[in-house]
Formats: sequence, structure tokens, C-alpha cells
Amino acid sequence: MRGVHSLGALSALTSAEGEALREHFKRVGFVFERLGAAEAILPNQLDAVRLPIVQWRLRQEKSAGAALTRLFLYDDVLTEPEAREAFGDTFALAALRGLIVAAEGGFVAPLRLSPYFGLWLLGDVLTGDPEVAMGPGATTHALSGLVPMEGAGRVLDLGCGSGTLALLAASRGADAVGLDINPRAVAMAEINARLNGLTARFLVSDIYASVGDARFDLIVAQPPFVMNPEEGAETTFLHGGRWGDELALRMIAQTPARLVAGGRAHFRIDLLMRPKEPPHGRIRAALGDAPVDLLLLIARGHSIDQAAMAYANVEDPTFGARYAETAHRYLAHMTGLGARESSQTLLTLSLPKVPRPDQSTIVLPLPSVARFSVEALAVLEAGLGHASLPPTALVGHKLSVAPGAQFVERRGAADRNAQSQVSVSFPGSWQGEQSLSESALALVQCLDESPSLGHAIAAYAALLETQATAVEAEVLRMVRELLARGVLRVVR
Ligand SMILES: C[S@@+](CC[C@H](N)C(=O)[O-])C[C@H]1O[C@@H](n2cnc3c(N)ncnc32)[C@H](O)[C@@H]1O
Repeated sequence: MRGVHSLGALSALTSAEGEALREHFKRVGFVFERLGAAEAILPNQLDAVRLPIVQWRLRQEKSAGAALTRLFLYDDVLTEPEAREAFGDTFALAALRGLIVAAEGGFVAPLRLSPYFGLWLLGDVLTGDPEVAMGPGATTHALSGLVPMEGAGRVLDLGCGSGTLALLAASRGADAVGLDINPRAVAMAEINARLNGLTARFLVSDIYASVGDARFDLIVAQPPFVMNPEEGAETTFLHGGRWGDELALRMIAQTPARLVAGGRAHFRIDLLMRPKEPPHGRIRAALGDAPVDLLLLIARGHSIDQAAMAYANVEDPTFGARYAETAHRYLAHMTGLGARESSQTLLTLSLPKVPRPDQSTIVLPLPSVARFSVEALAVLEAGLGHASLPPTALVGHKLSVAPGAQFVERRGAADRNAQSQVSVSFPGSWQGEQSLSESALALVQCLDESPSLGHAIAAYAALLETQATAVEAEVLRMVRELLARGVLRVVR
């Protein structure tokens, strides 16, 4: 499906009309929590497979909130009586501004409208059309958690799409700017600002070209990161170059000069793993001698087969002939490059408040980058800080398993004598589930029962019937790793 819906009627949306729509959406329960409940139906399946099931469940509810959810987010048609009931007093306004259009069987929504943390954000249905303006999606989430609840100062949303992150920051009191190379994205972001009664500046810009020499406290970006098998045929919101990371690296290279001292930039990108070339090497090379610390969190991403299917599904959501042809093209391209898998990454650049002669580069494999938040990042950084303490300082601290931990033991059902596998799980959190070796588990128990790491080393050595000096180096190595991965915390 190509072609985008004209924004002509919506461009005339006034602030008063925006307020009327918001009040109505709130009143009938077309809110973020409802979207969360709908997304919990068959999660992790391709949309095309789960769509009919989600639509059916929402139809059973027979409420205005459920009807608006299936209309705006799950491609369903509302009969005219359903649409009139769902929109109530705002029905004529919704039709006037083109939020709904008449179609066979009733009304459809030509744009997506997502309730998002107290905002309502318009965006295009994602297709391969070069003009598409992207609204909030699953990958936007990791970044929205990194916009502080208040007091973020000057915030820049680079590649803002329909303005999600800039508007989220503005709703929390930040002085927000959104930049996008796609004029339709900027137009949509401005409409979203009016729809939500917020003030933010949106500019058409190739990377930072339109902001002069302005600097920011916080920069957030989710650049296009999909590899492009077809030279010249770019979809602006999707493709980032032949490997997919070329545009992101250009953005990253220009970012240190855009941060105030003490400022931070967060990028969320999927990286196609290059054979024998770790991603942090390319990122550091792009940064040159910029005096920034780099933290790169990496979680396992899709296999190239899954990636090919997902991207082809954007090009042809009907799973038709173009889906098959496009999937093949992606697959042949990735195979030709020698790539085997992609990784989900969250990259943070920090410009120190006080310049230092050296910069840190930390790469941390984690089970998930999806549930990141300002608080999670603070915990992670504290863990990394403690992990790098000298032994003399570290042994004096009391260490314990991080809050929310649940220990899970698995034994093969078929073989009662099989070795059990133990892991520590943090449900709903970025630490995910991490396996623990037998020795790490024994150590964790000693740490919980001891007033300091020094005492725990002695207890662990006694368990192994050996001297503390014989195990100290190995214990310190395990402790540093568990601190860095968020499994252990320093207790104050
Ligand atoms: C993956 S979308 C992310 C949209 C939005 N930030 C979000 O998270 O929902 C990437 C955005 O980057 C924009 N973009 C692509 N090339 C750009 C460039 N050279 N300069 C600025 N923005 C660009 C695209 O138009 C698109 O809106």
C-alpha cells in the first residue's frame, strides 16, 4: 500500500478543537492503559497474524474506548452508529478534520492515533512510502523511559517523526525541539502539539543543520536503522544505508558538539552485526577524539530471516507477492554482506561536566534494552561505578541481590538426574533473566548472609574448604560482573 493521507484538513485543527478531542478521549477511556491491554493479546506475533483476534476481543467490549482503539490502532471499520456513539459530541469534528473518513461499511481512520503517556499522537500507518511519518511504536519505548519525569532542560528529539519524544518532554516541562528531514513528519508533529495543547519547536532539518550552534541537555534519537538492499530507493523513516547503521553513525559523530557539559544523548538502534567487527569500534571511530563517555547496551535481536520477514511485512502488510519478493531481496542482501544476526542496542553518550583526559567505553550485553528508564540507567551506572572500585574499597561494602529478584531452577523433565540450571529473574525489568553458575549462586548466598564482601569471601572459602586468598581474585571477578549486570547491588 503506497500513498499517504493528506494532512490538509488536520493542519487547520485549532487548540480548542484539540482540547475537545482530548477531553472526549479521556472521558470514554481511550487511554494508554487500554492500548497496553490490547497489546498484551498475543504479544510478539506479527501484527497481521494477531490483528483479527485483537479486533474480535475489542468488539466484544462494546464500549466507546474499545471502539476507538480498534478504529485507530487495529485497522477496523466502525459502522456509522458505532462511530457516532464512539465519538459522541466530537463526531462532526472528527469527520471535518479527516480523523475518520467514510468507507465501505461505515468509517475508517486514515491515520493512526495512539494514546501515549497522557498524550494522543497521530502518525501514519507504516508502509514503504517514502513520505511516511512515524508515530510512537515499540522501539520508541526504550527512549521514552529516558525522558525524565520533570526538569530535563533543553531537549532535542533528532529524527522526531510525528514528534512523540519532543512532545513527551514538553509535557514534562522541558524546552523541546524536534528535527526531521521529512516535511510531512514536521507537519504531523505540529498538529500533534496542537492536539495536546503543548508548545515545542519542530524544524525540517538534515541531522542538526537547522539548529545553528545550539546545545542541549538531553538528545534522544531513534534513527532509521534498516539496511537498504536497493540503492537509491530509500524509505525515509526506515532505511539507514547499505548496512543500516551509516546514517546513525553520521548522527552520532555530530552529537558531542551538540551537548552541554554534563549533557547526554541516547540512541536506540538495531545493528546488523558485522563479521569480526564489534559495533563499539565503529562507533568510537565515528566519534573520533570527541571527549564523550560511551555506554553501549546490547541485547540479542532478530535473526536475519526474522528481520527480512518483518521489513518485508512493512512493504506489503497483506503478505502478498511483494512481501515474498521483498523478503527475498532483504535476505539476499544480508547474506551477501555476510551478516548473520542483528542486535538491539541502546547507546548513551555523556559529555563529562569537567573535561577528563580519558574517556570510558563500556559495552554490556543485557537480556533486554526494551524496559529502560531514567531510574534503570542510574542503577546501571551505579553498578558500573561499584564494579570498577579497587579491591580494597570493594571488600568493605555489603552486597546483596538487587530488589525484585526471583530465583528459578529448571531441570529437564525427561531426565530426573540431569543437572539443574539456576537463573535469577527480574520480572518486568531490564535485567530480564540471567543464568547463574553454581559458584555464582553459592557466592550470592554468602553475600546475602555476610555484613561485607570481605566476610563473604571468607564464608565462600570456608564452603570450598580452602583459604580466602585462594578464592579472592575469582570472587572479585564474579562480583564485578554481577554488579555490572545489575544482579547485585551495594547496600547502604
Ligand atoms: C525510525 S523513525 C523514528 C521516529 C520517532 N523518533 C519515534 O521514535 O517514533 C526515524 C526518523 O528519522 C527521520 N530522518 C531520516 N533521515 C534523517 C536526517 N538525515 N535528518 C533528520 N531526520 C532524519 C525520519 O524521517 C524518521 O522520522
